[in-house]
This record gives sequence, C-alpha cells and structure tokens, in this order.
Amino acid sequence: MTAPAADSLTTGAAAGRPPALVLDGVAVARAGHTVWSQGDLTVPSGSVVGVIGPNGAGKTTLFQVVLGLLPVAAGRVEVLGAPPRRGDRRIGYVPQNYTAALGDAVRCRDLVGLALTGARFGLRRMTREQHARVDAALRRVGAAELGDRRMSELSGGQQQRVAIAQAIVDDAELLLLDEPLANLDLRNQHEVVALLGELRRERDVTIMVVAHDLNPLLPVLTDALYLLDGHPHHDPIGEVVQEDLLTHLYGTPVRVVRTAQGDLFTRGALPARGTPSPTADRPERAS
Ligand SMILES: Nc1ncnc2c1ncn2[C@@H]1O[C@H](COP(=O)(O)OP(=O)(O)O)[C@@H](O)[C@H]1O
Ligand SMILES: [Mg+2]
Repeated sequence: MTAPAADSLTTGAAAGRPPALVLDGVAVARAGHTVWSQGDLTVPSGSVVGVIGPNGAGKTTLFQVVLGLLPVAAGRVEVLGAPPRRGDRRIGYVPQNYTAALGDAVRCRDLVGLALTGARFGLRRMTREQHARVDAALRRVGAAELGDRRMSELSGGQQQRVAIAQAIVDDAELLLLDEPLANLDLRNQHEVVALLGELRRERDVTIMVVAHDLNPLLPVLTDALYLLDGHPHHDPIGEVVQEDLLTHLYGTPVRVVRTAQGDLFTRGALPARGTPSPTADRPERAS
C-alpha cells in the first residue's frame, strides 16, 4: 500500500464523505477541439479550491462538466459520489458575468427563490416556507434588507452577495462560483472572500471558485485546481503558490512574497521602470 494522499487528511474525507469531484482520464472538447485532457484528480469534500488558469484554458468549461451541461469526450467524472447530472440541487452555481446578464427588473427575493421553485421561465409563486428560506439566505449573506430591491439598483458587491444567496438557498453541498470577484473593489472582494470562509466553516460545503488573482482568496483557499498546458491539476494551495509554477501558469513573471505574519501573496514581477516622467517626479506637497 502506498501512503495515504494528502487528500485524506481533510475533514470531508475523514468523515467518509465522497469527494466533491473526481476526474479519471477526462478530456473535454468543444466544437471538435480539445479544450483540456488527461484530467486525473480528486477534490476532497470540504475544501475551498481556487480554479485558476489563463483565459480560454477551460475553467468555465470544467464547471459545465460538473453541472452535467457538457458531456466529456473521454474518461469518467464523479460529482459528490455520482455521475454529473443536470439540475443537481446539491450544487449551487453562480455563472460568470451572472449579475450583468440578468434582466434589469428582477427583484432580489425572486431571483434567490428561483433556486427553490425551479421556474426557468417566469416567476412562480413561493410558499411561505420558501419565502422564509429566501429571507434566511439573504440574511446569511448580509443582504437582508435587499429582498425587495431590483438587482439593477444594487452595487456590484451587493449583486454578488444576492447571487451567492441564490446558490446557497437550497443548502448546496458544492458551490461553483465563476469569477465572483470580477468587477468588485478591494473592500467588496474582501467581504465576499470572508463570506466564503464563513460558509465553509458553518456548512462544511465544498467551494470551487474561479479567480484571476489568487491574492484576495489566499486567506480561505485550501487547494487549487489549475489548468496548465492543456491539463488540469489539483494540489494543496501551499504547493501551488510557487514562483515557477505561477510564472508558467500566467505566462508572465510572478513573485511569491511571505509577510512577517506568514501570509502568502503573489505579485507580478514588473520589469524595471523606465525614466520617471517629470510629473511623476514632482513632489506631491512641500514639506
Ligand atoms: N459554447 C462554446 N462553443 C464552442 N467553444 C467554446 C464555447 N465556450 C467556450 N468555448 C471555447 O472553449 C475554450 C475554453 O473556454 P472557457 O471554458 O470559457 O475558458 P475560461 O473560463 O478558462 O476562460 C475556449 O477556447 C473557448 O473559446
Ligand atoms: Mg470562464
């Protein structure tokens, strides 16, 4: 027997739950063109996974496979212990650019309620119990007072919270969030990240989150799934935050910095600056 994988040390595996995701020799194609292949990995339940890779590497495509929306070209996929299937209510999903794509007039509580009524076209009346669950989900994401507002009236951070409320209202075991930090200012990014950490602790959900910049997520990530050279890989986060790997992944020099407090963060290693412009050199104020 080989030594147990690091995966088995996580809570979900220790509790005997099936992994959130297993890829076994998986390849995915779109329009006859292979997007990625040789997917062999196991995401343990209870992890918070950063899904990273350059544009077009197939991150959103991976989510579509997990959601049962896209059949694989080769291999075997297992999601929460079973083959992927459309409409799996154990999965909460916030699509990329979701809030921007919504109709202007939709009320927040109706949007969140869609996950319970399953109404795809038009809104269906909710039961008293469903209303209560919607209110609870909005409260949980710090958006209790937004239920009757229209999505179009909200800030980006508020919209993202409401979208996450929709993803958790049905007590999902697996959350798939596709670029939830895009278009948020730093403060809102931190608030959404803190919310993900809280959801993970309270509900023991597995969270997979696509991001361009790992930094805001590093406080909550346990693992990373990265698409490199056409193949998906999965590792504990500490093994991914390495200069060589990130430089290869992003195709641009990346430095990894550890602060005195032990926090890791990454930064683009900018080329040496040219001659500063006269305006940049001008003192801001006299001292
Ligand atoms: N509906 C589609 N039909 C055909 N090709 C697509 C479709 N959606 C995405 N692709 C292609 O699949 C590849 C992966 O896309 P995607 O998963 O959206 O990448 P990412 O989310 O990592 O930016 C890209 O080459 C993209 O052009
Ligand atoms: Mg995408």
